[in-house]
Amino acid sequence: MRVCVVGSGGREHALALSLSQTAEVVVAPGNPGMRALARADAPPEAIEADLWVIGPEAPLVDGLADRVRAKGGLVLGPGADGARLEGSKAWMKELLFAARVPTARSQSFDDPQAALRYLRTLPGPWVVKTDGLASGKGVLVTSDPDEAARDVREKLSGRAFGGAGRRVVVEEGLSGQELSVMAICDGHRAYPLAAAQDYKRLGDGGTGPNTGGMGAFSPVPVATDALVGDVMERAVLPTLHALRKRGVDYRGVLYAGLMLTEDGPKVLEFNVRFGDPEAQVVLPRWDGDVAEVLLAAARGELSDRDAPRFSPQAAVCVVLAAPGYPHHPETGSPIEGLEEASSLPGAQIFAAGVAERDGQLVTAGGRVLGVTALGRDIAEARRLAYQAADLLSWPGMVRRNDIAELV
Ligand code: AMP
Ligand code: GLY
Repeated sequence: MRVCVVGSGGREHALALSLSQTAEVVVAPGNPGMRALARADAPPEAIEADLWVIGPEAPLVDGLADRVRAKGGLVLGPGADGARLEGSKAWMKELLFAARVPTARSQSFDDPQAALRYLRTLPGPWVVKTDGLASGKGVLVTSDPDEAARDVREKLSGRAFGGAGRRVVVEEGLSGQELSVMAICDGHRAYPLAAAQDYKRLGDGGTGPNTGGMGAFSPVPVATDALVGDVMERAVLPTLHALRKRGVDYRGVLYAGLMLTEDGPKVLEFNVRFGDPEAQVVLPRWDGDVAEVLLAAARGELSDRDAPRFSPQAAVCVVLAAPGYPHHPETGSPIEGLEEASSLPGAQIFAAGVAERDGQLVTAGGRVLGVTALGRDIAEARRLAYQAADLLSWPGMVRRNDIAELV
């Protein structure tokens, strides 16, 4: 089987490595840090493959899966209709309310005065989200009502996120532990992957701005089979059914970002693809033929024998980012230590924002590398991941030092 992985980040690197254990893989376009993998610069629609796996949300929202399917291709990834779940938080919230999926109270607005009136009815903390795609950076969570009000005005002015910000979702702040549960869906059925926990804030202790994700680990002790079963029954399957009722044949990954509140798990968001960096800890633990399972989902033919199984080993991923991430990453610095870090037993380096200059890899994006290690337990995986991360550097490199610390 030949699989085309679409994208160029750490998630796509992890996907390509997992798939290449049983399939021939080409990454489109990939990045120069994906050393041992075949890459293609052609548009994904023009590549010959038996299966397309689309990594990032933007091409999904843009209808790439529809275009490949129109040519008879099999795709893991929803069409533009299903990708709206991530492309519009306002639409997603409406669907969740209609399907009675537990989620934070919220309303969406394009008029600042109405948004500010609603804000005043909520007890706080307050959450203001841009409606459209913003790479995980369009969300403000604050205990300061003035800051929330300023953010509503700023976002609705269209200055911060252009068109994506012209509508906002104003929401009650929830508290608790966060958990990511991804499920593989074939339009009707869904099977959960191992749960993961992501670190969204830039700084240690959950400080600083929201990012795309600064690290992750899996398994998550609190995510028992019973809890994951509950999330499937109360969140993932009702959403899949609500999509079907609207005529959406959702074949792809449905990723529930959850808050484990005192009243049970509540959905913060749905993403329409593998999480990044979550994929970098979940895929290395996936035992079995990943390509066959993704193909079965793309065909709409998942069965119990495809239910993903995971190794008892733990995985921890530490993201290494450029200075200035998430707002203004500085790029172009040579990356030191790749050879040494890659040769540590148990460690895998996933390349994301990298480019090649004079035969050397240089930084070229916000999140530059993901350093994942497997171990007998979280503590061992964490020790190995930081041991490998300590070998890697560039001027001003940014990372968190507390990934998987208090597990
Ligand atoms: P989202 O893109 O909607 O998942 O939001 C990004 C991050 O903002 C989440 O991972 C949470 O850390 C935080 N967040 C989003 N919604 C809420 C909420 N209602 N209450 C508290 N934190 C939230
Ligand atoms: N790590 C969060 C995401 O992939 O959206």
